[in-house]
Amino acid sequence: MKNQLFNEISNNISSCNKCSLYKTRTLPVPGEGSINARIFFIGEGPGKQEDLTGRPFVGAAGKFLDELLTGIDLKREDVFIGNIVKCRPPNNRVPLPLEVDACKPYLIAQIALVQPEVICTLGNTPLKTLISSELSIGKIHGTVIKKDGFTFMPMYHPAAVLYHGALKGTLKEDFDKLKDFLKNRE
Ligand code: URA
Ligand code: SF4
Repeated sequence: MKNQLFNEISNNISSCNKCSLYKTRTLPVPGEGSINARIFFIGEGPGKQEDLTGRPFVGAAGKFLDELLTGIDLKREDVFIGNIVKCRPPNNRVPLPLEVDACKPYLIAQIALVQPEVICTLGNTPLKTLISSELSIGKIHGTVIKKDGFTFMPMYHPAAVLYHGALKGTLKEDFDKLKDFLKNRE
């Protein structure tokens, strides 16, 4: 049942033309992982490798995300990995508010289906879109934020950390906090 609903959402994404991003993308990237995951990761949108393969976080940032997951004894298949927009913005530009708004219902439907215990936003776009435009990642990363009945733990985007190497330890520590958060709920 859950699988069927998930496939339905993915099919709707594949045939979507609700914003102009569908015109320039190669493949849509609906998201993947366990539909019973305890953690739901949300990035900004597909990059080049994701656009070519139809899979989220498979480029350099994805390899780093895999490494961070391994560090807390998890595999990609244990979690769900999605994005704010499902089609690649040209040249990886930040998605426009119009595109974010058009695509958001798919993400909301996926979250409702998976019912994760915690939603980890990666970087500024999902933080500002789903939690609050007033918050800054530098201040609230690694903290638990409850909003609209959901539990969030915002984190830096792995791509930003690859760029600013000094943040690597910070992101690893935040993953440890995520592990502790889940452990304390068991
Ligand atoms: N960056 C993102 O935000 N999402 C991806 O899927 C890959 C890189
Ligand atoms: Fe549809 Fe989202 Fe792709 Fe825009 S980005 S065309 S709303 S699936």
